[in-house]
Amino acid sequence: MGDPALVPSFDFPTVWRHGRGQAGQAGAVLRGLGCRAPLVLTDKLLLSLGVVEPVLASLRGAGLEYAVCDAVDYEPTVALFDSIIRDVDLKRFDSIVAVGGGSVLDVSKGLAVIASFGGHIRDYAGVDKVPAVPSMKIVTVPTTSGTGSEISDGVVLIDEERHTKFLVISHRICPTVALTDPLMTVSMPPKVTAASGTDALVHATESYISKGASPASEMFSRRAIELLSRNIAAACADGSDLDLREKMQIGATMAMTAGMNSKLGLCHAMAMPLCALYHMPHGQAVGMCLPVVLEYNAPAVGEKMAAVFRAMGLTGDDSAGGGAPGEGYAQLQDLLVRIGIAGRLRDMGFQESHVPIIVRETMDSAQRPTNPRDPSEEDIAGIVRRLV
Ligand SMILES: [Fe+2]
Repeated sequence: MGDPALVPSFDFPTVWRHGRGQAGQAGAVLRGLGCRAPLVLTDKLLLSLGVVEPVLASLRGAGLEYAVCDAVDYEPTVALFDSIIRDVDLKRFDSIVAVGGGSVLDVSKGLAVIASFGGHIRDYAGVDKVPAVPSMKIVTVPTTSGTGSEISDGVVLIDEERHTKFLVISHRICPTVALTDPLMTVSMPPKVTAASGTDALVHATESYISKGASPASEMFSRRAIELLSRNIAAACADGSDLDLREKMQIGATMAMTAGMNSKLGLCHAMAMPLCALYHMPHGQAVGMCLPVVLEYNAPAVGEKMAAVFRAMGLTGDDSAGGGAPGEGYAQLQDLLVRIGIAGRLRDMGFQESHVPIIVRETMDSAQRPTNPRDPSEEDIAGIVRRLV
């Protein structure tokens, strides 16, 4: 047996097709999979704006009988998921084409699980509870660049009864085919570009320094850090630039490819309670944490921290020797401020009583064990106080 850190155990079960116009290949892709009856899952805004039309046209062109469900919203709850199960006769369909942001793509994976194995989505909550690869094929067409849900192994739903979010995680629910098409992301407003792009940058960075990183995942992480950090500000400033959209999109999918193999770290462990308490987008929560968490992690990652800042193009003078680059944290913070991913918890309703809640939920998170440095409760409280 070799060093576990050098063994490139690496799953990438999704077929990834990228390029301008790929969304228009959805019909041919489904035909190639032997599918005849797809359900198109999306949200009302995207449908009304005509964003879904290239996909629908390709399904018509391929002679496929489809139905459209536009019931997914920004933060899908278990109740919403259950209502879709009630309203849509899943037995009629052999496939789902999910066109939208992370919420739509996540729900499509959950629907494929229920269509294939029955029961309730709560039955599959946790890691590796899905018994086999669902028989229902999943084709994803993302309209944002960030969550990585187009190829990822996760579903996130809000459990309003238990006042928390829950996750279904299994490599068996990775979508069958992902069609990433920059033309599908041009409707994204700057705020969404910033939050979702930051989420992707944190996937790339946390996966790179994760305890679960391998040479294979590091390759994806490092290139994703470059693509995302060097283009995010320009992509926010000019959303019509397809070259920039394309770089962000490729970076986001590569970042999650690494992230779902190596797992993430403290930014993602802390984001769950931060989002619940302060009602901020996931991308903002992980972005706010990133400079502080990187600084905390520096003693445990050695030269890798300098490599992170080099990849970002933010290298401070003192990083040339390979040590922890103090300049880099400030430069990264400046970048995040420039794209609007900043803010202090004190401006969002912070109370001292929130600290133990954030600490407990962070310690319980499935993303915490792969953080390169093992945090104590006091360490997490200290990070929270730096965000206040
Ligand atoms: Fe994330």
